[in-house]
Amino acid sequence: MASDVKEETAPTAEHTLAGHDALIDELRERREKAREGGGERRIEAQHAKGKLTVWERIARLLDEGSFQEIGGHVIHRHTDFGLDRQRYPGDGVVTGFGKIDGRRVCLYAQDFTVLGGSFSEVQGQKVAEIMNLAMQSGVPVIALNDSGGARIQEGVYSLAAFGDLFWHNSQASGVIPQISVMLGPCAGGAVYSPALTDFVIMTRGTSHMFITGPQVIKTVTGEEVDQETLGGSTAHAVTSGVAHLVGDNEDRSLELARTLFSYLPLNNSEPPPAVDPADDPWRMDAALNTIVPVDPTQAYDMKDVIERIFDVTSFFEVHKDFAQNAIVGFARLHGQVIGVIAQQPMVLAGVIDIDAADKIARFVRFCDAFNIPLFTFVDSPGFLPGVGQEHGGIIRHGAKIVFAYSEATVPKVSVVTRKAYGGAMIVMSSKTIRTDLCFAWPTAEIAVMGAEGAVNIVYRKQLKEMEKADAKAERARLVAEYHEKFSKPYASAAAGAIDDILVPAETRPRLIAALELLQGKQATLPRKKHGNMPL
Ligand code: HXC
Repeated sequence: MASDVKEETAPTAEHTLAGHDALIDELRERREKAREGGGERRIEAQHAKGKLTVWERIARLLDEGSFQEIGGHVIHRHTDFGLDRQRYPGDGVVTGFGKIDGRRVCLYAQDFTVLGGSFSEVQGQKVAEIMNLAMQSGVPVIALNDSGGARIQEGVYSLAAFGDLFWHNSQASGVIPQISVMLGPCAGGAVYSPALTDFVIMTRGTSHMFITGPQVIKTVTGEEVDQETLGGSTAHAVTSGVAHLVGDNEDRSLELARTLFSYLPLNNSEPPPAVDPADDPWRMDAALNTIVPVDPTQAYDMKDVIERIFDVTSFFEVHKDFAQNAIVGFARLHGQVIGVIAQQPMVLAGVIDIDAADKIARFVRFCDAFNIPLFTFVDSPGFLPGVGQEHGGIIRHGAKIVFAYSEATVPKVSVVTRKAYGGAMIVMSSKTIRTDLCFAWPTAEIAVMGAEGAVNIVYRKQLKEMEKADAKAERARLVAEYHEKFSKPYASAAAGAIDDILVPAETRPRLIAALELLQGKQATLPRKKHGNMPL
């Protein structure tokens, strides 16, 4: 009997092959169908706009053959407004994981050819799933955004999906790096997901971000503005500061994402990725000795200073076009990733204004969250005076810099290259807010304020009582005296606020030695739920 059963049920070799082939063929067909997204016509429309398809983007972003999709068979369950006739496998978002330069990464990528990439209930579920996997596995998430926003036909279900996405973005913040690459429209509340991530990369001409579009603005305020002016890459990279990087086209945006990724650790318990040092650790660039002009009113390019000190070609600036009086970016020092913060004397003399404060504080916090040591170069006359700045909240914004540096427990090193007046001296990674090593160049001027201002305040009464000619001479003498005392860093070094004065050319080896020492730094904060940063 048993042998009969066996004979009846046992398939022939031919049958096995044919049956399995059919099953595998079906799977292949389903996969191919999913890759067609919303169909040939919509793919052509996508290309006609100068945009790539979701699969072309993934192929450019990730290492060849590394992508593993999950959730590719998911479809939505809605029927209203004709949705029952518009079901596409994957439902307009591709989620999965892969590698960039051999390092693990998770991603989700919206497919504009499927219902305009609109964010749906099941899209939300898919994105939540990949974000949970990323957090549990400790790998960054990259979002490729190209969407018409909440799927209108789904109503409150798509709105709820956004809420869930924002919650996941917030939970992941500070645990794994999150990068948003903007490759199409992003309107309404949808913009809050990229805003909650660490870096936003926009694409010139094809990506737009706004809470309310041109038509709504015209109705409510009467202002007439086009999409590009309102929320294009220039608006956000230069004016609002929402965008950290801009690609001239999609290829470039995706390349920028890969480069940025190469500086980031996979998660908050790993160090950032070191490379074998390719530059001489003892390289001493004599040009640094004369880079700061003798005349304090003359500017010089701080980026030149940065590039001469850190590993050759390693400086990767972010937020380049926003608040250009400040500079932030990543670099490598003897192969180790570090964060650079600096003033730019070529723009507004390196003064700290509201935007510069926001830019610096946000970058410091990112680096601290992800174990990236901070190297700060100071040349600033202080905070920007003015009613506009005061009423705009320079007090609140400037305080963010102090808060961010004070709270940061990563290795912190600063170099005063020239002016460090008043608030700038203190907030820009000074000894008193627990910077580990503070250096200055012989050109450093460290004072409460500039000599003219100081004399005007301290000697106002005496100078007023003098004859005009005498007052002029006395003022000049007092200014020179104040300047002599504080135009050099020795008073600060004597007070212990500066640990050492460096010959500028020796800055690179001295910073490498500092980093080597501080790599084992252990620092803790008082126990608390979280601080109350002056937002
Ligand atoms: C469903 C959408 C859609 C959406 C676009 N589509 N947006 N379907 N829900 N939100 C569909 C279109 O019907 C069209 O379908 C296809 O996507 C391509 O759209 P087009 O309009 O042909 O493309 P284009 O001319 O490039 O214009 C793109 C666009 C425009 C600027 C994004 O589609 C648009 O304005 N969409 C609506 C944007 C919006 O207001 N979204 C809601 C934001 S409020 P077919 O079948 O023709 O291919 C929001 C709230 C979130 O998101 C709140 C979170 C807290």
